[in-house]
Amino acid sequence: MQLTNLSARKILNSRKEETIAVVAEVKGKKIEASTPNGKSRGKHEVRDFSSRGIDFSVSFINALGRKLVAEKTEFEKFGDLEQVEKFVRRYDQTRDLSFVGGNTLFALESALLKAMALSQEQELWEFLLGNGKPKPSLPRPLGNCIGGGMHVNQTRKIDFQEFLLLPKTKHFFDSYFINLQAYKIAKDLLKQKDKEWQGTLTDENALASTLDNESALALLQEVRQKIKDKFDIELELGIDMAASNLLRGKIYKYKNYSSTKREKNLTKEEQINYVTDLAEKYSLSYIEDPLHEEDFDGFHRLRKKIPDVLVCGDDLTTTNLERVQKAIKSNAINALIIKPNQIGSLIETKKVVDLAKKHNITLIISHRSGETMDNTIAHLAVGWQIPIIKTGILGKERLAKLNELLRIERRIK
Ligand code: PGA
Ligand code: ZN
Repeated sequence: MQLTNLSARKILNSRKEETIAVVAEVKGKKIEASTPNGKSRGKHEVRDFSSRGIDFSVSFINALGRKLVAEKTEFEKFGDLEQVEKFVRRYDQTRDLSFVGGNTLFALESALLKAMALSQEQELWEFLLGNGKPKPSLPRPLGNCIGGGMHVNQTRKIDFQEFLLLPKTKHFFDSYFINLQAYKIAKDLLKQKDKEWQGTLTDENALASTLDNESALALLQEVRQKIKDKFDIELELGIDMAASNLLRGKIYKYKNYSSTKREKNLTKEEQINYVTDLAEKYSLSYIEDPLHEEDFDGFHRLRKKIPDVLVCGDDLTTTNLERVQKAIKSNAINALIIKPNQIGSLIETKKVVDLAKKHNITLIISHRSGETMDNTIAHLAVGWQIPIIKTGILGKERLAKLNELLRIERRIK
């Protein structure tokens, strides 16, 4: 495939922040890809856009686009993205991609992948999966139902960033439907129980409750029971604690700890015990970033206490091969968040996916809090056979991924 045009422009994400969309033209057809932005970002993520500003990132893609077109560069397979990365690396030898930006590279590579798929008359997931492979499975949707932390802009809010739902169903369609039902039930219960809730939503369209952490978990247990009674479907529960955002010095500081004691400080030991208690009391299946992003040892000790729970790294690992290697070696995680724009390069992202699979780490591909209508992660989930996708439940940017997966499921059947 040779491109006839490749250009970038600025657009706004769901939080009205500037981000980049890239349009690629091949065989007279145009495709577009864009990149989301994170807010609760890991310290070891690469930079989002160029340190010279997003306009520089846009010009960089435009200049590269002109070069690729003029030189009639051939793109046929996933590995051909390496040509682009080599070019980028000639200009940007920084560890954190600060000359170009990780979001810039991700948007560019997503557009190139979509163009390659288009030129071979395949969907992106098919192109990534390769020919002659058995029928792929759809990922399970991990839905953000109640939230707080950095994703809510008000003083009274819940401490943990996300309270997550993971239905156990055979088909993606059923899980999609159950998450919507559960969200509605949770909303009705919140109206009764959360006297201060104004109906506000988080950046990811979850319910921005003002309850304390345990009251929210108790509420979700009720939701789980109602789903069980009505649909006979198991609803697993999870949390993203985004614990780096709670840490002040060496202390985890809670502002909304319990209904009787709002402020509470926990040491690392106490935090590990607190998470263990929550996991047991509320039968949690999934816990993301329960400790600070540098605390591989803390993750490891928690893992040993709750061996059946998915202990997941996000800020800990930042889709960075070296950090994931370290997490695996220190037995810090058994689950891993994949966010391509944390590292920028899709070649690196794929290496992380392959390494984690080799070590039986459960993978979760994830949206960012500031999302666009782009559906690349839905295709990566199917094409790379990633078992869980974290997308949120409502909002057009979240539904763009979920609805794409619904469509793919129907096509595969
Ligand atoms: P984000 O965080 O705001 O960086 O996208 C989401 C998460 O922590 O999972
Ligand atoms: Zn997270």
